[in-house]
Amino acid sequence: MRPLIADEAAIQRAAEAIQEGLLVGMPTETVYGIAADATNVHAVRATFVLKGRPSENPLIVHVADVEQALEVVSEFPDPARVLAQRFWPGPLTMVLPKSARTPDEVTAGLDTVAVRMPSHPVARSLIQLSGRPLSAPSANRFMALSPTTAQMISPEIAEGLALILDGGPCEVGIESTVVSVESDEVAVLRPGIISAVQISDALGRPLHTGAPQPHASPGMYRRHYAPSTRIVLVERLLPGQPGLTLRTPSEGQIQMPDQPEAYARRLYAALGELDALGLREAFVEAPPTGPEWDAVWDRLTKASSEG
Ligand code: TXA
Ligand code: MG
Repeated sequence: MRPLIADEAAIQRAAEAIQEGLLVGMPTETVYGIAADATNVHAVRATFVLKGRPSENPLIVHVADVEQALEVVSEFPDPARVLAQRFWPGPLTMVLPKSARTPDEVTAGLDTVAVRMPSHPVARSLIQLSGRPLSAPSANRFMALSPTTAQMISPEIAEGLALILDGGPCEVGIESTVVSVESDEVAVLRPGIISAVQISDALGRPLHTGAPQPHASPGMYRRHYAPSTRIVLVERLLPGQPGLTLRTPSEGQIQMPDQPEAYARRLYAALGELDALGLREAFVEAPPTGPEWDAVWDRLTKASSEG
């Protein structure tokens, strides 16, 4: 399945495929996703099978507007309104109580559902044309790297898709920030390019940072986003020098940007390039610390985790 340039005709074909219960490769501003009609349990089950994903790991539902979000959730408390106003459309996912219309298959049996309103114009028009909320996990096999271009989608995944919409390289490059919103308490479950500081600034108060509940975040595996080359994090070798590197034992290095947004945008493609060299291990120079680097650290730690 070769990716199709996401023009109007291609998006229309994709919308029809969604309505028929098929799966579609969809660009978003974060990473490419496997889109399906979130109200069609057969399509949702097929998504889990194609990803090789454990069924206890719930999917994110993508909506075109707040009105559609209100059909997916049973409550939209004030903090959710504030965050939607500030960050939607964009790379923020909110976990909220689910409505009866959202199938248990999507939420892995939980009584909450993760919702986000993507900003990518192709994703938005696919949701609108199909007239359905779309479940969409990242378009990788379980534990593999999330694709940030249509070309990075692996043949095993592509095989199960009715078509892939090529919307160009993803602007953000890492998955959305996931927050849980429980009446008044907001907590970050997965760091992303929208940082905890930006979220607490928008709310005008600190976030909930207590110990996460045992099942608050299923699917938060210690190892994740993992290339098959062993990634070893090493200390910054040239403090104060702009630019960070991903280095291989023999074949030179990939220069990484020194700003967190640009670094995140480049990260998965760079790890994919390292992976393609078929090396046993590669070295990643540790980036700076600070809230704006949290999401990059999260992905690097997971990619380099042995467990
Ligand atoms: O940027 C993104 O979020 C991308 C694009 C395609 O939108 N999607 C994505 O989906 O990263 P996925 O399935 O790879 O990751 C979804 C994450 C998982 O870690 C899952 O545990 C969490 O969201 N999640 C989903 N529903 C949840 C729920 N009800 N409660 C807690 N966590 C939930
Ligand atoms: Mg994923």
